[in-house]
Amino acid sequence: MAHMKPTRRSWAEPFKIKVVEPLTTTTRQYRAKAIKAAGYNTFLLRSEDVYIDLLTDSGTNAMSDYQWAGMMLGDEAYAGSKNFYNLETNMRKYYGYQFLVPTHQGRGAEHIISQIMIKPGDFIPGNMYFTTTREHQERAGGTFVDVIIDAAHDPESVYPFKGNVHLQKLEELIRKVGAKRIPYISVAATVNMAGGQPISMENMREVRRLANKHGIKVILDATRAVENAYFIKIREKGYARKSVAAILKELCSYTDGATMSGKKDLLVNIGGFLAVNDEKLYDEARNMVVVFEGLHTYGGLAGRDMEAMARGMEEMVKEDYLRSRIGQVEYLGQKLLDWGIPIVQPIGGHAVFLDAKKILKHIPQDKFPAQTLAAEIYIDSGVRTMERGIVSAGRDSKTGAHRHPKLELVRVTIPRRVYTQAHMDVTAESILSVYEDRKRIKGLNMVYEPKHLRFFQARFDKL
Ligand code: F0G
Repeated sequence: MAHMKPTRRSWAEPFKIKVVEPLTTTTRQYRAKAIKAAGYNTFLLRSEDVYIDLLTDSGTNAMSDYQWAGMMLGDEAYAGSKNFYNLETNMRKYYGYQFLVPTHQGRGAEHIISQIMIKPGDFIPGNMYFTTTREHQERAGGTFVDVIIDAAHDPESVYPFKGNVHLQKLEELIRKVGAKRIPYISVAATVNMAGGQPISMENMREVRRLANKHGIKVILDATRAVENAYFIKIREKGYARKSVAAILKELCSYTDGATMSGKKDLLVNIGGFLAVNDEKLYDEARNMVVVFEGLHTYGGLAGRDMEAMARGMEEMVKEDYLRSRIGQVEYLGQKLLDWGIPIVQPIGGHAVFLDAKKILKHIPQDKFPAQTLAAEIYIDSGVRTMERGIVSAGRDSKTGAHRHPKLELVRVTIPRRVYTQAHMDVTAESILSVYEDRKRIKGLNMVYEPKHLRFFQARFDKL
């Protein structure tokens, strides 16, 4: 076939490959056995049996030579490691909070903030739940209340800021239960469960205004805040000429603190932190971290891991990097859209979300269409994705019934700096092949259900 002349110039990854890790391929027959043995749960597969691993962007990033060099400079002192101070300096520089408490990963920070701020009977409004975040809020005796805008629950809405807080819903809750029973508003950047959708700066400012009016704190889930800042730059009026670093800092300035999973934006394999501005809260958090994570200058991390995070902060705000990162996700998503495959729109920051409800419309939600679709994609090609639907949503903590989320999705998550465009092509073609064959696919039965965060370990049988 003759090649067409391009209509626009291409971009390429702003890095080259120095170390490679071989991939293994398997046969379809082998994979059918492997996924059966894994109870049709992609979390229970052995990574050796996976070809292209798009389970998560969490801790699956490729570090740079600069970060690896930093690993050799780990100061593994029990107390006062110099890497802690480097991390503290960069956290202040890029996020702008006063006090830093390192934790082993994001949920360590969520545990601490929930335990020190939430009392039994409290309500925590948030722009859609995240699995671990809500789990910790509920364990502390709180009730999570979803106050995201309605468009977030609609995969077809192309609203550019589907992560926004619905201000009237938030105000209504405050009126109903009273500000005293709301310890903080839990705001996430690039909302994971909504499909990697950003919140706008304008909305964040409004949330702050409302919080101030009622004397309520705002805690940011900063896990993918840099990717959110990039979306603000390219989508929100008035931000095109600001640097992503400046946008990130402004976003954080409307909040009182943040929980952070460093395993995403920070381009590392492990780590996280809690950051706050209030000294009293810091004192409590610092006291609690020694019980659950480790001393307040390492929080469950090696010195070298803190160094890699500190250096990752310097790299995450580089705009050529962000363009290729978000651009790669968009490349995959656009391909699927061009082929008419239903996905969440706009295309998200860290993943493409397949609309399993539409793709497998003959399978009722109680037969787990997204779980089924993820298993089928794995069988087809060895590409590993994950369920983000009824299994992830779990059961209502009061009634014990399945929660039925509007979104029944398969997340095709892209690790940072790991895969090439050719890997995206292979992935897209596998999804297309399963899509074309969708009518013969049957659902699943859940045969084992763990009590907490069931999606990680649940097992299924074919119908
Ligand atoms: N908040 C968000 C928005 C997340 O996506 C995650 C993790 C966490 C908090 C918890 O952080 O894993 O370091 O303890 N998300 C991973 C994922 C697990 O695959 O989306 P953690």
